[in-house]
This record gives sequence, C-alpha cells and structure tokens, in this order.
Amino acid sequence: MATPVALVTGASAGLGVDFARQLSAKGYRLVLVARRKERLDALATELGHGRAIACDLSTAGAAAALMADIRAAGETVSLLVNNAGFGLTGRFAALDGGRQRQMIDLNCGALVELAHAVLPDMRAKRKGAILNVASTAAFQPGPGMAVYFATKAFVLSFSEALHEEVKAEGVTVTALCPGPTSTEFGEVAGFGLASSFEKIAARSEDVVRAGLRAVAEKQAVAIPGLLNKAGAQGHRLLPRSWLRRIAGLMKEIGT
Ligand SMILES: NC(=O)c1ccc[n+]([C@@H]2O[C@H](COP(=O)([O-])OP(=O)(O)OC[C@H]3O[C@@H](n4cnc5c(N)ncnc54)[C@H](OP(=O)(O)O)[C@@H]3O)[C@@H](O)[C@H]2O)c1
Repeated sequence: MATPVALVTGASAGLGVDFARQLSAKGYRLVLVARRKERLDALATELGHGRAIACDLSTAGAAAALMADIRAAGETVSLLVNNAGFGLTGRFAALDGGRQRQMIDLNCGALVELAHAVLPDMRAKRKGAILNVASTAAFQPGPGMAVYFATKAFVLSFSEALHEEVKAEGVTVTALCPGPTSTEFGEVAGFGLASSFEKIAARSEDVVRAGLRAVAEKQAVAIPGLLNKAGAQGHRLLPRSWLRRIAGLMKEIGT
C-alpha cells in the first residue's frame, strides 16, 4: 500500500512542527509548507523524510501553484492540515489595513482554496481528512483582535458545514479550536511582554495530539482542554452583547 501523504501548512513553527512530527510517527509522508524554507528543510532532515515547499500562502495564486507542484510530483494528499495562520493585536482602525487583509487571505482564503483542491481525489477514493485549525476565538467576537476572531469564526463555520456535506462520501472535516498555546503566535500577534498568554498556554504537542485524535474519531469540532471547552459554551449561557464585552475585557487584562 502507498504511504499516505499529509500536507501541513505552517510547518516551520509552533503547532505545524508538532503536526509534522506526530504525523511522521504515524507513518505519513510529509509535504511541509511555510515561507521559511531553511526551517522546513531542518524539520525534513530531523524527520528523515518530507518535502519542503516554501511559499507565501497569503498571495494570489500561491495555493494553486502549491497544488500544481504536489500533482507534478505524483502525490495525492490523504490528510490536509490547514494550520498556517496569524493574528494581530490592536484596534482595527490602528492596525495596518494591508496586513489585516493578508490575515483574511491566509487564515480563510488559502484554507478554502486548499480544501477545494484536495477534495476531488478524497471524494473519488471515499477516503481522506481535512483538519482546519480554528481557535476558541471562533466562538465570540474579539475586540482588540477583531479581524483574527472573525477569521476563526469563518473557519469554524465553514468546517462544520463542509463536514456535513462530505461525511457521507467518506471524507472527514474537523475544526480544531485551541485556546492559548505556547508557539510563536503571541510574538507574531504582538502581545506585550507582560502578557499572561504564556502563563495559561497549553503545550503545542498536547493540542496537536488532541487534534489528530479528533480526526481519527471523525469529529467535526475539537476543543482541547476543559477550560477552553467550558469557555466555548459561553454563547449558550450569555447574551452576545455580554460575550463581546467580556472578550474585550479579557484582551485588555491579558495584554
Ligand atoms: N498559539 C495559539 O495560541 C493559537 C490558538 C488558537 C489557534 N491558533 C492557530 O494555530 C495555527 C498555527 O499557529 P501557531 O500558534 O503554531 O503560530 P506560529 O508558531 O506563529 O506558526 C505559524 C505558522 O504559519 C506560517 N505562516 C505564517 N504566515 C504564512 C504565510 N503567509 N504563508 C505560509 N505560511 C505562513 C508560519 O511560517 P512562516 O512564518 O515561515 O511562513 C508558521 O509556520 C494558526 O492558524 C493560529 O491561528 C493558535
């Protein structure tokens, strides 16, 4: 039987590195994608296999070029881990407009394009899985990170809908919704040095393990950690006007 191929975006840091390590241990052949090629190459060397493809997935045509490269290499993706993403902290009006647009293009645009590109083969084989990395940010609006929270609400909604569309065809779609996790995310997002983020952050390898378990169990949504699970239920208990205010207050206290 051919070795299954996993395509992991954002594999140069954080959760993506742990996805690559754990999937390699499960017997997948890896296609590793991010902008920092030297880091991808180092990871491929560590794993003893894996193909590194450097690309900026926020740019137009990048996802299509990546899929063309994969097809040209004769590879068929069995598992797509749509993990590449970033956040920006600050008020919407004060943050750079172009960077916020890039965030939407990466967190949502590339994720949708890659999912669309891998589905035909998966549906034809009646086998395959897509893991989209959302966030607990998906469950409420986030003043102070408005665009980031909105991108993750998109990822969650899209993933759940797609899960329903393709589950009868043998394909699983899972949204992984981590809470704060120790990666380079906080540094990229611009959290202050006094951030409490790191104090409450989960370990990346534990979050990834929970995500891959959810894929194996064909779950639509996975929220690792009891506190995160409880927090995500806030919308059942509180009016949305409270939820958004609380999210804004937590952001102010946390940074
Ligand atoms: N850490 C958390 O607290 C947390 C919580 C919930 C959800 N998440 C989500 O988890 C996912 C992974 O983030 P992380 O926490 O592991 O952060 P990270 O350590 O900063 O890793 C982000 C990855 O995305 C890649 N990336 C960024 N921009 C890219 C672009 N334009 N094109 C291609 N790749 C790009 C980065 O690689 P290059 O810079 O080399 O391109 C890196 O490999 C994200 O979707 C994030 O929103 C994180």
